[in-house]
Amino acid sequence: MQEEKNYRSPKLVIWFTGLSGSGKSTLAEAVYQRLQQQDRPAYVLDGDALRGGLCSDLGFDAAARTENNRRAGHVARLMTDAGLVVLGAFISPFAEHRALVRGLFAPGEFIEVHCDCPLEECERRDVKGLYRRARAGQITDFTGISSPYETPLRPELVVDTSNQSVDAACAQVLALLSR
Ligand code: PPS
Repeated sequence: MQEEKNYRSPKLVIWFTGLSGSGKSTLAEAVYQRLQQQDRPAYVLDGDALRGGLCSDLGFDAAARTENNRRAGHVARLMTDAGLVVLGAFISPFAEHRALVRGLFAPGEFIEVHCDCPLEECERRDVKGLYRRARAGQITDFTGISSPYETPLRPELVVDTSNQSVDAACAQVLALLSR
């Protein structure tokens, strides 16, 4: 009898959530590089990138963020179907939206990582100059300034991205994955 082989690797989504400038994309990229070294096919699904195309019709009010996170979740799902480890980097500020995305996956497939960085530090970094513009009233619904960020209550991992190096944060994520 021919041996039946299961060629499917387990589905996995690592969902980095946190304020703008908290280091989500940087950490996702670092984890991506490590997965590449392990020959694990992966993809960084980044909020900024999606908003440049698939979600370019969406703004930042609560309804738009619902739709943005819904689309991101479904894209992540398709990517996991194709065998990719998805490294999602989305502010995803509302617990309800994160729960909706989590609900697209089986238990254990969705790993929520809170990139925990105080607003003051994100604002100090202000890599894209968005906080300055938000404070000046030039950007509405800006997370942390004029729109809420609901701190995850039970993420699989909290990473301190204000005091830790990227390497140390990356090691924390990889340690969780190996468990
Ligand atoms: S969300 O909340 O999950 O729908 O947001 P996301 O898709 O991750 O997009 C966040 C990036 O959009 C830029 N940007 C803003 N962020 C927050 N609030 C407002 N009003 C806003 N306007 C533009 C910003 O570059 C975010 O990227 P990151 O990488 O988080 O800084």
